[in-house]
Amino acid sequence: FDIKKKFPDGFLWGGATAANQLEGAWDKGGKGPSIADTLPGGKERFAIANSQKFNWKLDSKEYTYPNHRGIDHYYRFKEDIKLFAEMGFKCYRFSIAWSRIFPQGDEEIPNEAGLRFYDRLIDECLKYDIEPVITISHYELPLNLAKSYGGWKNRDLIKFYERFAHVVLERYHSKVRYWMTFNEINSAFHFPVMSQGLVPSSGANDFTNIVQSWHNQFVASALAVKIGHELDEHLQIGCMILYATSYAYDANPINQYANLKQMQDFNFFCADVQVRGKYPQTTARMLKEHDVDPTALEITDKDLELIAQNTVDYIGFSYYMSRVTDVTSEHGEGVSGNLIGGVANPFLKSSDWGWQIDPKGLQIALNELYDRYQKPLFIVENGLGAKDIVEKDGAIHDDYRIGYLKQHIEAMRGAIADGVDLMGYTPWGCIDLVSASTGEMSKRYGFIYVDLDDEGKGTLDRSRKDSFYWYKKVIESNGEEL
Ligand code: BG6
Repeated sequence: FDIKKKFPDGFLWGGATAANQLEGAWDKGGKGPSIADTLPGGKERFAIANSQKFNWKLDSKEYTYPNHRGIDHYYRFKEDIKLFAEMGFKCYRFSIAWSRIFPQGDEEIPNEAGLRFYDRLIDECLKYDIEPVITISHYELPLNLAKSYGGWKNRDLIKFYERFAHVVLERYHSKVRYWMTFNEINSAFHFPVMSQGLVPSSGANDFTNIVQSWHNQFVASALAVKIGHELDEHLQIGCMILYATSYAYDANPINQYANLKQMQDFNFFCADVQVRGKYPQTTARMLKEHDVDPTALEITDKDLELIAQNTVDYIGFSYYMSRVTDVTSEHGEGVSGNLIGGVANPFLKSSDWGWQIDPKGLQIALNELYDRYQKPLFIVENGLGAKDIVEKDGAIHDDYRIGYLKQHIEAMRGAIADGVDLMGYTPWGCIDLVSASTGEMSKRYGFIYVDLDDEGKGTLDRSRKDSFYWYKKVIESNGEEL
């Protein structure tokens, strides 16, 4: 019963990105458009995509489309990975842009030029002993699958994803051990455009479509696990959920119960299916509360068998903030957050984008997840989106970011001492990239600064922030020196 005081040997320190937010070259090398390429830049991004008139345009005089250029990583990946290596990254989490491999999503033959790009990217990581960690699908569904097929509510997408997963797993399994099937699969609860390719005109406002899309994704995820394990039983294939620790506002049992349901439905529902291999007992209650008629869903016995037999090996999750449930009264201002809101927690401060900063909440999250699933955990996103100031001498003193990350790493150490099995940590946007929720460049997470502004102006030069040198020491000391 010894208390573990240290990060385990071989702990996967690294950083995380997603293809659509940094690669750019959105129509180069045979790549087709993805849903991310249709999202405009600016704080109204979600509101626009959630409006009835949204119609997946790739160009319009009214908006900018920052994902088209990203940070030009497609052309500069060698320089970027060299900088990750300089920080001592043990791993690098990135995603494969589906529409680079299957430009329209429904082809039978993959685009060889797209595969060659990831050959080079993976080899570049391996050159520095950086273990690649791949998200198969991160908010970048080929646009055609959203427009012509209506997104994930259509069962045809299972076979298209299966084909995509098969191609990339087969090509890279001898070089890549760690995989995740879908980024933040539960985020569709509030915003299904990015993870399910569903907008109001294709039924996003009907929860039946969201549940059907989840089911199709659960089957697709199970197929990817099956394919991966058949290729190599040692592959580690995880799920990936958006986790926001959730507190009841007060001891009122009504709020406590509402919060319990929030945890069950938002934080746990998808992971329950992917980790335990079956729908949780809360499913019927959740469907009823969202006016979903279970007989309207297409779920076959074969699907359920596949899901039961192909559960994930670990749980990847993002953690940025916590939230508060209050259904009995209005307690002050509402807050925004990682696709979810809630009321303000009087004990916490918020980021400039209104996300409530809560390192202790991460220790709680780690305990909650490990208590429930008893599977290794991987924090594959965490960080502070903030505006950075470049000094005259080029320095960037981002002590606020260092403070945020330091407190969260301390919380991780606390959870390890609590007995949690934590395998790695990849802070989000290790290099500045386009924000998913607002399309802004000025919402920066990186250790590496990229000279590019919200209007798309800048040299794209990379430079090291203070946090770069700090994180290098953290990795060197395996989390001892914070
Ligand atoms: C997660 C996503 O929700 O949060 C990332 O997986 C995203 O794609 C990250 O970028 C941070 O959110 P944002 O909106 O600040 O970019």
